[in-house]
Amino acid sequence: HTQSQDFKVADLSLAEFGRKEIALAEHEMPGLMAIRKEYAEAQPLKGARITGSLHMTVQTAVLIETLVALGAQVRWASCNIYSTQDHAAAAIAAAGVPVFAWKGETLEEYWWCTEQALTWPDSPTAGPNMILDDGGDATLLVHKGVEYQKTGELPSADNEELAAVRTLLGTSSLDWTGIAAQIRGVTEETTTGVHRLYEMQRDGVLLFPAINVNDAVTKSKFDNKYGCRHSLVDGINRATDTLIGGKTAVICGYGDVGKGCAESLRGQGARVIVTEIDPICALQAAMDGYQVTTLDEVVDKADIFITTTGNKDIIMASDMAKMKHQAIVGNIGHFDNEIDMAGLAKIPGIVKDEIKPQVHTWTFPDGKVIIVLSEGRLLNLGNATGHPSFVMSNSFADQTLAQIELFTKPDAYPTGVYVLPKHLDEKVARLHLDALGVKLTTLRPEQAEYIGVQVEGPYKPDHYRY
Ligand code: NAI
Repeated sequence: HTQSQDFKVADLSLAEFGRKEIALAEHEMPGLMAIRKEYAEAQPLKGARITGSLHMTVQTAVLIETLVALGAQVRWASCNIYSTQDHAAAAIAAAGVPVFAWKGETLEEYWWCTEQALTWPDSPTAGPNMILDDGGDATLLVHKGVEYQKTGELPSADNEELAAVRTLLGTSSLDWTGIAAQIRGVTEETTTGVHRLYEMQRDGVLLFPAINVNDAVTKSKFDNKYGCRHSLVDGINRATDTLIGGKTAVICGYGDVGKGCAESLRGQGARVIVTEIDPICALQAAMDGYQVTTLDEVVDKADIFITTTGNKDIIMASDMAKMKHQAIVGNIGHFDNEIDMAGLAKIPGIVKDEIKPQVHTWTFPDGKVIIVLSEGRLLNLGNATGHPSFVMSNSFADQTLAQIELFTKPDAYPTGVYVLPKHLDEKVARLHLDALGVKLTTLRPEQAEYIGVQVEGPYKPDHYRY
């Protein structure tokens, strides 16, 4: 590892390679580049100290440099132990942005990196005044820290993740309460992190305002769906190079991510089966032409199993015991609790073997083998490079506009969880049309009046679902 005073990455010599890919990505991220141009002079993020906790990829590098171009100071960590692209991290470090991320962190290292991203040596409170989160871990650490300072009790160590948080808080010297008081807000990238925010709001423990970026239409209806449509098969192919056509694949969950995943495997010629608990999503899957049934019914027949639920305990060890020889099992939901890895490891006589990093076989006592991708963590980032630039340009344009909203209009957002105003959502879509050669029809004033909207939008009521 290369560590100077204020960053830690795998290998700084990868910076040139990272910079070349960043340059290519910039062209594929027209939304972010247009925002850089639009706000270059105004510098709306001047004075912002943004702590980012989000997969340190090439696309994220373009986001980071957009925030910097708008006047912000930035410190960064990845939000998953496997998702960092080391060349992207190196390029960002070489550009002088403190980044703490490498592919293959331990959980302890992961939380240390998050703490480093939250530690601002030159600020009076030693903390950020904005958080940009993906999955809510930076926000969680601040909230747990404040709770610890208030009660003197370390958080319980219910699982491996929380055990690592507990260890970190026990040794950290940060003034969490002081840090929390300075934070104007957090913008949250994903379904799972948003879920945590609404829970904290409901329980009355949320400490600062939040913008739910995930539920911007130009985020969840694009990144979750079309992003996963691209990066799921990419992950499976790089990990296994197994022909998907003709195989039977099970997608657990038919939300935004599940819809993209199902389409992606069907596009490769797989027969796709969906499991759901929600009758609406189950009916959608059926209408889209997929068989919908329970995991139990098909667990011994399918070849590929992918969890997309954001829920826990979806594929249990007892399920994996029933699978076919060389069935492939992977998760694309945010956390690693969808697949019961702990239960798998406890099966008497089972043997785990590493084929290559993030690809493991598990051999049962009877000789049957299953292949588990990324140890049950999100496989599109662990086995491949996550979503491609163009779709991330939408998500990250939403992030950037959400950061500007919370940072520049603190009075408009008292503590609570908000979605991005619709005119900004539409703006993000608009910024991506030219690059695809889209010609938009302009409403005539009398048409606008007839449907009750302004010519320049917004075009839909807030409850419209797209
Ligand atoms: P969503 O809420 O739209 O979809 C999840 C679906 O799973 C829902 O329809 C729900 O009814 C279903 N579900 C819940 N429990 C289930 C069970 N026991 N069996 C079958 N289905 C069940 O959420 P979304 O946006 O699709 O996100 C899913 C997860 O993926 C989240 O953890 C999110 O953070 C993550 N995510 C990951 C990305 C990646 O690049 N890997 C990108 C975007 C989101």
